[in-house]
Amino acid sequence: MSEVLKGKVAIVTGAASGMGRATAEAMLAAGASVVAADVSEAGLLSLAPHPQLRTVQCDVTNKRDVAAVVATAVAVFGGLDIACTAAGICQPESIVGAGIVWARTMAINVDGTLNVCSAAIPEIKARGGGAIVTWASTNAFQATPNLAAYNVSKAAVLMLTKSIAVDHAEDGIRANAICPGWVRTPMAGDLGAAYGSPEAWHEAILKTQPLGMASPEAIAETAVFLASDASALTTGSAVMVDGGLTAKSASVSPPPLPIA
Ligand SMILES: NC(=O)c1ccc[n+]([C@@H]2O[C@H](COP(=O)([O-])OP(=O)(O)OC[C@H]3O[C@@H](n4cnc5c(N)ncnc54)[C@H](O)[C@@H]3O)[C@@H](O)[C@H]2O)c1
Repeated sequence: MSEVLKGKVAIVTGAASGMGRATAEAMLAAGASVVAADVSEAGLLSLAPHPQLRTVQCDVTNKRDVAAVVATAVAVFGGLDIACTAAGICQPESIVGAGIVWARTMAINVDGTLNVCSAAIPEIKARGGGAIVTWASTNAFQATPNLAAYNVSKAAVLMLTKSIAVDHAEDGIRANAICPGWVRTPMAGDLGAAYGSPEAWHEAILKTQPLGMASPEAIAETAVFLASDASALTTGSAVMVDGGLTAKSASVSPPPLPIA
C-alpha cells in the first residue's frame, strides 16, 4: 500500500480485533501514526510493535478513557487527523423483554461512537480538518431477526455520521460510515457458532452475500480510502462494502424463461 496517509495521525477504537485491528495495521502501512484503543488489554498487547504505534486501554463508554486516547495522539504525535470508531458489540435479544442487551448495545455502539467523535472533533478541527470513519452495518438498512438492538444502534451510528458531516463540513471534517456485510472476524464467528462448523456458516453466508464473507483487511482498505484525500468529496455517505448483500433480494424468484 502506498503511503497515502504519510504524516497523518489516527486513533482507532476496537483495534484489538477484527476490522479495527486490520484498520490500525493498514493505517500504519499507509504511513500514519496510530493510537490503537480497545477495552481488551490482552488484544492490544498482541499487536505487532511499530515505532508509529501506541496502544491505550479504553472503554469507549467511559469519557475519561476516550479523552486519554485523544490526549495520547496529541502528546505523542502532535495532533489528530483521523478517528476510526470500530469498537462495537452484537448480541441477540428479543424485543419483548429487551433490556440488558439493548442498554449495553446503545452504550457501546451509539454513545461510544459519539464519545470518540466528540472528543476527536476539536483536535481534528485544530489541524484544519480531517476524517472520521465510523462502523455502521448493512443492519442500518435491513433488520436481521433477533438483533433489534444492534439493528437500531447501527441506524443511529449512520445518522450520527451524517450529522457530523453536516455540522462539521465548515471545519474541514469529513465523516463517512462503512457498512460491511458479513466479515470474517470473531464477532461474526460468535454469531455463526450455532451453524456447527465455520464451513457450514460460510456456506449459509454465501447464499445471502454473493461475494461471500469479506476479510477484515478488505474493509480496512476502504477505511484508508475514506481517511485519505482520495475521498475528498465523499462525506455523510453510507459506504456499502457488503459483497452484494443489500443488492440481493431474499424474495423467491421464478426460473429464467427458456431462450427461444
Ligand atoms: N463482523 C461483521 O460481520 C460485521 C458486519 C457489519 C458491521 N460490523 C461492525 O464492525 C465493527 C467491528 O466489528 P468486528 O467484526 O471487527 O468485531 P470484533 O468483535 O472482532 O472486534 C470488536 C472490538 O471492539 C472491542 N470493544 C467492545 N466493546 C468495547 C468497549 N466498550 N470499548 C472499547 N472497545 C470495545 C472488542 O474488545 C473488540 O476488540 C463493529 O462495530 C461491528 O458492529 C461487523
